[in-house]
Amino acid sequence: MQRTVLLASSLAVAAMVGSALAAPLNYKTPDEVAAFKPGPNLEVVQGNCSACHSADYVNTQPPMKDKKGFWQAEVTKMIKVYGAPIDDADVGKIVDYLAATY
Ligand code: HEC
Repeated sequence: MQRTVLLASSLAVAAMVGSALAAPLNYKTPDEVAAFKPGPNLEVVQGNCSACHSADYVNTQPPMKDKKGFWQAEVTKMIKVYGAPIDDADVGKIVDYLAATY
């Protein structure tokens, strides 16, 4: 008799846990915030700089004096250090966009 009660209550607990886990997940995914700003050659940048990380890496750089030099070095680093497959012909366009836009 005692065992039956115990079994019944543990089944009830199991059912409660089960239904808590099965509750529908109802949350909204956050809006896309990490977008590149509009600018000249935006599509070249999107095509070459979106594969490995979000645009946040670009958006969160501190203000800098020599924008062109900074971004030239940054793009070179992506290619040489991280192996980004970027065409030589696109490097200038990307640097121009970044220096003009950020
Ligand atoms: C092959 C993958 C890859 C591609 C493509 C790539 N990056 Fe990166 N990038 C990285 C990695 C890896 C890091 C370092 C991540 C970390 O430190 O967490 C990084 C970091 C950065 C940072 C942060 C500062 C720093 O130097 O670490 C910036 C800015 C950045 N990338 C810009 C760019 C831009 C602009 C492009 C397009 C020209 C680009 N990335 C394309 C791999 C890539």
